[in-house]
Amino acid sequence: MLKQETVQIIKATVPVLEVHGVEITKTFYKNLFEAHPELLNIFNHTNQEKGRQQTALANTVYAAAVHIENLEAILPAVMLISHKHRSLGILPEHYPIVGEFLLKAIKEVLGDAATDDIINAWAEAYGVIADVFIQVEEELYQKAENNGGWRMFKPLKVAKKEVESELVTSIYFVNEDGSPLPAYEPGQYISIRVKVPGEEYLLNRQYTVSQASAEDGYRISVKRESEHTPNGKVSTFLHDVLQVGDLVDVSVPAGLFVLHESTAPITFVSGGIGVTPLNSMLQSLKDNAENEVHFIQCARNEKVVAFSDDIQAKVNVLPNASYTALYSDDNQLLTKEILAEQVTGDTDVYICGPIGFMEAVIKHLHDLGVKDDKIHYEFFGPFMQLAN
Ligand SMILES: Cc1cc2nc3c(=O)[nH]c(=O)nc-3n(C[C@H](O)[C@H](O)[C@H](O)COP(=O)(O)OP(=O)(O)OC[C@H]3O[C@@H](n4cnc5c(N)ncnc54)[C@H](O)[C@@H]3O)c2cc1C
Ligand code: HEM
Repeated sequence: MLKQETVQIIKATVPVLEVHGVEITKTFYKNLFEAHPELLNIFNHTNQEKGRQQTALANTVYAAAVHIENLEAILPAVMLISHKHRSLGILPEHYPIVGEFLLKAIKEVLGDAATDDIINAWAEAYGVIADVFIQVEEELYQKAENNGGWRMFKPLKVAKKEVESELVTSIYFVNEDGSPLPAYEPGQYISIRVKVPGEEYLLNRQYTVSQASAEDGYRISVKRESEHTPNGKVSTFLHDVLQVGDLVDVSVPAGLFVLHESTAPITFVSGGIGVTPLNSMLQSLKDNAENEVHFIQCARNEKVVAFSDDIQAKVNVLPNASYTALYSDDNQLLTKEILAEQVTGDTDVYICGPIGFMEAVIKHLHDLGVKDDKIHYEFFGPFMQLAN
């Protein structure tokens, strides 16, 4: 329990820190990586460069601080982050390091305004917040092990590579000894940690397990990121360098973007490679599932789209389902009118795609009166606030 005095200081200083939030976390990361370059083997450098991770961490620390007397209020956010942390092998001993550099950054940015009382109050509050994360993550590590899996990363063998479209290739990972892999919930992702030639540090990325079950291994389906210079580092490596028979460090599936069991209608809305978790969820439905099901798949064109045949095949066997493919190169865009035909107030809507795409879809859904608790989505990057 924090002293009332400490709580008051925290609450009074949150607005000040929020103003300097991103500056503090940028300073924090710069100093952290200078002192602990080994942590660059864990963090996603692209997310750092784009400032996404800094914003995510700053927002969470302040959200936690505001609710310091009632941390249950932020438990859903903690769970989401802890799944990501667990999948990346974040350990209790990392927390004091992060705490030390966060406090130093607050001091550096605020200067004299950061009195000893303020710094001590934040040190205490950080300790409380960190303990919650450490406890939740330990439970997740134990769950991963008890489900026939492992704690951190394990080398899995590439059993097969399969071209799905001009842009997407699937990779199947299996246990070296052929034993079965732990089950997962469709929609979950794995983290992989790879040594890319020419890179000083190991690179970590998340990929959705793109099949409904692990029968023939964990399948991931990777989009080649080649629209910008430089090309995506890990996706290019997975497409061009990784060979069948190679070993890749993989952690047990994680994540909370999964299908909620219910008899309510379900509408899936995918944009581009965001199809991977949604197709897994669709394929996991029993063939006689009574739910009304709609799958709207948006992609650039027929050459790059992935899994349209699989989606169509599943929709054909479900008693009450439809499939709509929209290709933007043919000017087929997802409008509010199309959504209105496939969504009711009762529908659970699952969305995955680029950020702008998800924002547009969610805005349409709000206009159609769909409540937030029926809208489920996932970012293929650090969690952030959508503009709606
Ligand atoms: C939960 C989750 C699930 C995911 N599931 C999938 C999945 O199923 N399939 C999938 O393909 N991906 C998935 N991703 C995304 C994946 O983790 C990677 O982010 C993606 O493959 C890109 O990684 P990369 O190393 O190839 O690109 P990076 O090197 O990280 O670059 C990312 C993008 O930024 C561009 N870029 C890099 N540097 C710069 C710069 N300096 N300026 C401008 N642009 C730049 C690159 O060209 C590229 O387009 C998922 C992500 C998450 C978080
Ligand atoms: C209380 C302390 C912490 C908070 C509030 C916090 C918060 C966050 C948040 C909000 C994210 C983004 C989650 C997402 O992807 O949606 C994240 C990811 C991450 N965190 Fe933490 N974190 C904390 C401690 C740590 C520690 C101690 C480490 C290890 C040194 C760490 C390493 C990471 C890494 C590697 C990622 C993924 C980064 C990426 O892929 O861009 N975090 N954290």
